[in-house]
Amino acid sequence: MTSSSPHIPVMLDEALAMLDVKPGGRYLDATVGLGGHAEAILRASQPDGRLLGTDTDPDALAASTQRLEPFGERVLLRRAWLDAAPEAAVDAAMTPLDGVLCDLGVSSLQLGNQARGFSFQSEGPLDMRLGPQDEAQTLTAHQIVNQWSSDDLADLIHDYGEEHRSRRIARAIVRQRPIETTTQLAQVVVDAVGIRPGSRVHPATRVFQAIRLEVNRELEHLADFLSQVRGVLGIGGRLVVIAFHSLEDRIVKRFLRDHSSGSSPVFRTLTRRVMRPSDAEIERNPRARSARLRAAEAI
Ligand SMILES: C[S@@+](CC[C@H](N)C(=O)[O-])C[C@H]1O[C@@H](n2cnc3c(N)ncnc32)[C@H](O)[C@@H]1O
Repeated sequence: MTSSSPHIPVMLDEALAMLDVKPGGRYLDATVGLGGHAEAILRASQPDGRLLGTDTDPDALAASTQRLEPFGERVLLRRAWLDAAPEAAVDAAMTPLDGVLCDLGVSSLQLGNQARGFSFQSEGPLDMRLGPQDEAQTLTAHQIVNQWSSDDLADLIHDYGEEHRSRRIARAIVRQRPIETTTQLAQVVVDAVGIRPGSRVHPATRVFQAIRLEVNRELEHLADFLSQVRGVLGIGGRLVVIAFHSLEDRIVKRFLRDHSSGSSPVFRTLTRRVMRPSDAEIERNPRARSARLRAAEAI
């Protein structure tokens, strides 16, 4: 593993306030990662609040198990994809829940481990699987990059990367095959579209986002998870979602709009406008820059 800055939980104060964490409460952190938010929830719900943390990544679970060990039986950790997290809460007899947190995307642990292939800043295999590598998750970034047709690649980069130069990038990828590593792929993208002077976003960012979302079916999991979450929250229970790009945020925004209006709403939206991190937080933790938090209360 390469060195990486430690993972700092994003919008922590805002998430805790929106979750309205209380002693004795029951919480689900459905993307527990390294346990940063989970640890804060456990502290704020002392002495007897409980937390179920789920994540699909065994490395993340190993890290959160170690971090949350001092909380003993107040914590339960399970491996689950996001869409299976509500069911895990039912199985663990944690429902009805007082709060559910979902802090999407990847952690610094994953980005910093070059063998996982999430980052174009360090050389690694084109993998990008969030789940265990010995299991059913067989689609890898390598297959998409080296086997998909130019049209399919372009559609993916356009739809999941929101990149308008997707056709040019897709043609360049197909021309340069085989592409074996993250840095090779990033270079192909740079050669195809150049680096805009003054742009803070590297041109490979959107391409890597698109491929990762497809490899892990992250948007489908999020939509499935949201469709089940009301069923595991008690009345007054809180849902907090932190998204990192507009595709995720749009899914959350539409879900909350559709379920907090009409003749039989099941949520009351607590964030009329999406919440963004403060300038001070972005200064401290640049990864927070793109975070968008939305919250709602079950009614
Ligand atoms: C941003 S990190 C969470 C960090 C955590 N809040 C903390 O403070 O340490 C997101 C985590 O969600 C997991 N994850 C992302 N998408 C997932 C999905 N669709 N199913 C299951 N886990 C997912 C990743 O493996 C990662 O560990």
